[in-house]
Amino acid sequence: MSLKHPSAAPGKASELSVGPRFGLAGSAVPRHELPAGEMPPDVAYQVIHDELMLDGNARLNVATFVSTWMEPQSERLIAECLDKNMIDKDEYPQTAEIESRCVGILSALWHAPDTATATGCSTTGSSEAAMLGGLALKRRWQKRRAAEGKPNDKPNLVMGINVQVCWEKFANYWDVEMRLVPMEGDRFHLSAEEAVKLCDENTIGVVAILGSTFDGSYEPVQGICEALDAFERETGLDIPVHVDGASGAFVAPFLDPELVWDFQLPRVASINASGHKYGLVYPGVGWIVWRDAAALPEDLIFWVNYLGDNMPTFALNFSRPGAQVVAQYYNFLRLGFDGYRTVHGYARDVATRLAERIAGLGPFELVTRGDELPVFAFALTDDIDNFTVYDVSNALRERGWQVPAYAFPANRTDLDALRVVVRRGFTHDLADMLVADLERQLPRLQRQPEPVHDAGSGTSFAH
Ligand SMILES: Cc1ncc(COP(=O)(O)O)c(C=O)c1O
Repeated sequence: MSLKHPSAAPGKASELSVGPRFGLAGSAVPRHELPAGEMPPDVAYQVIHDELMLDGNARLNVATFVSTWMEPQSERLIAECLDKNMIDKDEYPQTAEIESRCVGILSALWHAPDTATATGCSTTGSSEAAMLGGLALKRRWQKRRAAEGKPNDKPNLVMGINVQVCWEKFANYWDVEMRLVPMEGDRFHLSAEEAVKLCDENTIGVVAILGSTFDGSYEPVQGICEALDAFERETGLDIPVHVDGASGAFVAPFLDPELVWDFQLPRVASINASGHKYGLVYPGVGWIVWRDAAALPEDLIFWVNYLGDNMPTFALNFSRPGAQVVAQYYNFLRLGFDGYRTVHGYARDVATRLAERIAGLGPFELVTRGDELPVFAFALTDDIDNFTVYDVSNALRERGWQVPAYAFPANRTDLDALRVVVRRGFTHDLADMLVADLERQLPRLQRQPEPVHDAGSGTSFAH
């Protein structure tokens, strides 16, 4: 399968011409085929380096939740570990040891009842972690139903329509019915009441998101658990909760210590998080932790040899880079609790101040304020009909900013919004520059007679 990204410059000619450097003036290399022979490394480097200049600047990409800045010391460690395969526990025992320390640190941070027996692992990201969490829920439900002599071929999973695409993938790849709670009015995520309405004896679990990809808001995990407690009292059905804390599981422990969302709630069976989002590591690492060994069925675990010992693994891939796991541990060691609180506290300050400044410009109204995840969504006020959020996104692109514009899902498909993700490395200064660029572009947009871009023609971003 070969799918080209629609905005990638196609490079029409079948040959790629090399500039007059390295004594290669006039030379050309095939663009889509394996060259017949070798070329000097400097040439190969320069050809690829030049093409990649067309990629956006990662630091100006306020669409992504993923880290775009790390300390040089961690980059050095990553470079030192680029050749280490996470699966080779026997050959790289210290990398394996560091992975289990990270699992222990996270299970303590998320209040697992017994951190001495922390159960979890690193993954390539939250998507893989979600697959593992979902599979554990499905297998537990199937076993329970089999033990009760009841059919177990129609599992369903309840969640808000705002879930990230990884949950659609989970449902599709593993034959689980997705039961989606739509948005309604100003409710842009799952509510306890609506979640319970969709639960029945075939529900393997409820997914609660901390916080939502669409607007950065936290779903009410505690309320959802309490509603499921009441449901159990009424029906006898004990339905576990998986918390998709892709971003929030690395934010709430530091900035919202009073919020109860994690293993303190007995109904929470598992939590996933992206090390490469607010865990502050470059792309390539996620985490899943179960509340205890009982929450992860034994028969999903494979045993690999580790220094003559047997080490449990549960993962979709076999080989996987070890460097990102080491980088995660660097952040834990280097920042500690206070460091994470400082970094994310600053991001939330930037997000809330930037949201207010944008709201003050006139044509915008906030969907969220950046006071949960340091992320906020904003829309155009109802009276604006001559330009769209897609026009705004395109106008900002002229200065290199990548601010996604997108339509909300059912039942709020009438709402189109822009979203800003504030991460480490995005300063008040950069935020001021973003506002200044918006202010510069607004008069032109306000003068245009009618909208130019819609969801089809504007810069599109996927969640
Ligand atoms: C709530 C949520 N879950 C899961 C994911 C998928 O995470 P990853 O990109 O680490 O696979 C994302 C990504 O944005 C997300 O926001």
